[in-house]
Amino acid sequence: MEAKAEIFVKTAGGAYPVYVARGALEALGGIAAQCVAGRTVRIVSDSNVAAHYLAGAADSLAAAGFRQSASVIAPGEGSKCFAALQALWADFHGCGLTRRDLVVALGGGVVGDLAGFAAATYLRSVPIVQVPTSLLAFVDSSIGGKTAIDTPFGKNTVGAFHQPLAVVADPLVLATLPPREMAQGMAEALKTACILDGDHFRFMEGFAGRKPTEEELTETIRFSASAKAGVVSRDEREGGLRAILNFGHTVGHAIEKVLGYGTVPHGEAVAVGMVAAAKIGVSLAVTPPDVPARIERTLRALALPVRVAELPGGAGACNAGALAEAMLSDKKKLGAEIHFVLLEEIGRARVVPLAPARIAQLLPAAL
Ligand SMILES: NC(=O)c1ccc[n+]([C@@H]2O[C@H](COP(=O)([O-])OP(=O)(O)OC[C@H]3O[C@@H](n4cnc5c(N)ncnc54)[C@H](O)[C@@H]3O)[C@@H](O)[C@H]2O)c1
Ligand SMILES: [Zn+2]
Repeated sequence: MEAKAEIFVKTAGGAYPVYVARGALEALGGIAAQCVAGRTVRIVSDSNVAAHYLAGAADSLAAAGFRQSASVIAPGEGSKCFAALQALWADFHGCGLTRRDLVVALGGGVVGDLAGFAAATYLRSVPIVQVPTSLLAFVDSSIGGKTAIDTPFGKNTVGAFHQPLAVVADPLVLATLPPREMAQGMAEALKTACILDGDHFRFMEGFAGRKPTEEELTETIRFSASAKAGVVSRDEREGGLRAILNFGHTVGHAIEKVLGYGTVPHGEAVAVGMVAAAKIGVSLAVTPPDVPARIERTLRALALPVRVAELPGGAGACNAGALAEAMLSDKKKLGAEIHFVLLEEIGRARVVPLAPARIAQLLPAAL
């Protein structure tokens, strides 16, 4: 693959490239060599991903002259913890990593967030290249520089902004991604289309219900990655615009909170949250009446749920009162109003401040 990037994320520290191309993994070494002066690389991956792609990544880095070694963590959200972070610091120390060297995060959002935070903090920050392998990481977590671990105080409660030097996204790795994980990424990709691009929404409507071709998948990754890159470029630290990326997430997070984090996959909670937000938008005369049904149809065809009752335990626990309360406890520090993302049409979003009591009133008809 020729290492030519078409997407760039502009940050205060300069712009970095996002390579989206089949076979990009083979170019990893060459790309990394352009990023740093040092020649030591620590790859961080999880055991599922490492089984398929670690050897290829390591070979590419070795061929470019890097002394490479790897930390392989256990798969799953449980690895975004302080113990795993400390273990990575120890590994970085053990392989003699310096600030001229490089960390490569090879995996989904868990690996990206954990390795990203380890890199952000070790020696007051060492460079990182993100190599996403889950659809969610392609379209969302690998771009934007947010890194974190979970703590007893909550999910992603301790972290840092640490922008990568490059993102190397090879859609070929999706061949081994389990279908349910694929659906999580599709939920985020559809969210991006909902808030930013009606044409891409129609494109996704077209392949929903069947297996998208490799070209369609690559197109969706390119679209979502460049849309997220655009938003991050204009609002690196979440001043305002980046808030529209939270479409479906206010209700989605509340569902996750009420059911217990990890009980329901994030993308599935967000899918239900998008339908709820669309319906609330209709009630407030912001969203055209046909929008909820279009979103619902497309989500269903992407094997995603659209009602709380479809989530395990959701029918009883996720009532309007419990969800409104969960939203409020989440946002206490921002004052009593909740910044709710509504669609003015498919492809255009607006943030509307809503009092929790008003949300609780509108929610029953939206769930
Ligand atoms: N930093 C951000 O901006 C941001 C944004 C969204 C989500 N996140 C975080 O991302 C995490 C979720 O990410 P995720 O959904 O990628 O989860 P994940 O990293 O746990 O990956 C999901 C599963 O798929 C496996 N997997 C990944 N790629 C594979 C491949 N190519 N082949 C086979 N198996 C593969 C993993 O081993 C894991 O079991 C959460 O912790 C969330 O907080 C961060
Ligand atoms: Zn999300």
